[in-house]
Amino acid sequence: MDYLLGIDTSTTSSKALLIDLQGNLIAVASSPHTLQTPKPLWSEQDPREWWQAVSASIKLVLEKAGVGTERIAAVGLTGQMHGLVLLDGQGQVLRPAILWNDQRTQSQCDEIHQRIGRERFIQITGNVALTGFTAPKILWVKENEPEVYAKAKHVLLPKDYIRYKLTGEYAMDKADGAGTVLFDLKSRTWSAEILKALDIDPAWMPPVFEGPVFTGKVTEEAASITGLKAGTPVVAGGGDQAAQAVGVGAVEPGIVGLTVGTSGVIFATTPSALVEPQGRLHAFCHAVPGMWHFMGVMLSAAGSLQWYRDSLAPEMSFDDLLAEAETVPAGSEGLQFLPYLSGERTPYPDPLARGAFIGLTLRHGRAHMTRAVLEGVSFGLKDSFTLIQNAGLGKIDQVRASGGGTKGALWRQILASVLEAELVTVNTTEGAAYGAALLAGVGAGAWPDVQSACKSCIKITGSTLPDPSQLQAYRKSYALYQELYPALRSSFEKM
Ligand code: XUL
Repeated sequence: MDYLLGIDTSTTSSKALLIDLQGNLIAVASSPHTLQTPKPLWSEQDPREWWQAVSASIKLVLEKAGVGTERIAAVGLTGQMHGLVLLDGQGQVLRPAILWNDQRTQSQCDEIHQRIGRERFIQITGNVALTGFTAPKILWVKENEPEVYAKAKHVLLPKDYIRYKLTGEYAMDKADGAGTVLFDLKSRTWSAEILKALDIDPAWMPPVFEGPVFTGKVTEEAASITGLKAGTPVVAGGGDQAAQAVGVGAVEPGIVGLTVGTSGVIFATTPSALVEPQGRLHAFCHAVPGMWHFMGVMLSAAGSLQWYRDSLAPEMSFDDLLAEAETVPAGSEGLQFLPYLSGERTPYPDPLARGAFIGLTLRHGRAHMTRAVLEGVSFGLKDSFTLIQNAGLGKIDQVRASGGGTKGALWRQILASVLEAELVTVNTTEGAAYGAALLAGVGAGAWPDVQSACKSCIKITGSTLPDPSQLQAYRKSYALYQELYPALRSSFEKM
């Protein structure tokens, strides 16, 4: 048995990826999902569509790889975090899943803080209640769709619905479990106190497991649908951010993961259940057994650049835009960009925050505006980076960069200089699905632990150091950036 399968049910698609026991990528396939936004602020998907997409991707990857399925040692699961999947007693989907980027639950978040006390809530879960998380979504269904709530028997997260379809088991990993904010962060399991205060039946919550632990086996029925061999073990896996961290080797304190995709994430492993006292950082369990992590999440990172290009320069390629931006000095000659196009999470948990260009003069042109977008997103990431440094983690030796936004040298250089840290790239570019496959390998005994799996498969391919000639300009510009949201918050609210 010499292959491992990773499956990632993300918001845009479901991906299946096959690697060998040296960590080499053998084949990858993905199938798209549709997204429904039936009302403003709503974001939903039909879990049955995920299962169709996963089944199609598994079939396709097996076909591409051309390896016998009896050679697959184990399957690892990952996927978008926080999405609420509600099932009835027969395992039938009760309503569309309410996703991580759905913003309808602000009043339920307020209610949670009111019932439990904000400080007590942070103390137990490590987090404040945010609209993205799962707990307020359950309350929303209770208050707005009582007929659905009355039939509910199981709460799952997106990848755990896939697990249920693959193995017939209700189970969840601890990294994703913590992202429901119904978890006791320290003891790595459901919080009886929070469930009681929110009047949620503990029997709805599945058993939780560490990332590399087997949670079930592929059933005959799932085997006939996917082409996998019945009996193939499936490990717990991890939410996409934890699995992504495994996929780039950010599995020990001191090595930080930085992802610049649609959203932007700074991810730092912690050796104990550290909490940022005001709950400005997310604090969840890691997919690495016995480890935790901090995370800062920006909602529009490369998404800001994508929006900017699509709306203001649709005729330009990203490469040409970036080449133009390189002609402008660090600091964009005083022009600032606030990247809060979809509201924000870290460090300002504010669905009403807005994006902005500030400081425009006649001197500024498109090149300045492009560079200001790159710098504004980098400053937003520095906010999270600084919070992590100040929250007891100490020195950060290395930042491992991934995601589309870090492909270009200019943005990597800006990020290294703004964060004042070495930025490295690695040989693995398949992110969370790759991490899920490594977790499967640890479960199957291919490596003794997650750290060894990462050491043997993940290699550094490049390094970008801060540019000493730019540090002063960025420090000055960042100090100004930090003044802008607090000054504009009440105006954003009125908008
Ligand atoms: C993490 C988060 C997103 C989703 C998207 O807290 O909300 O990264 O997991 O996939």
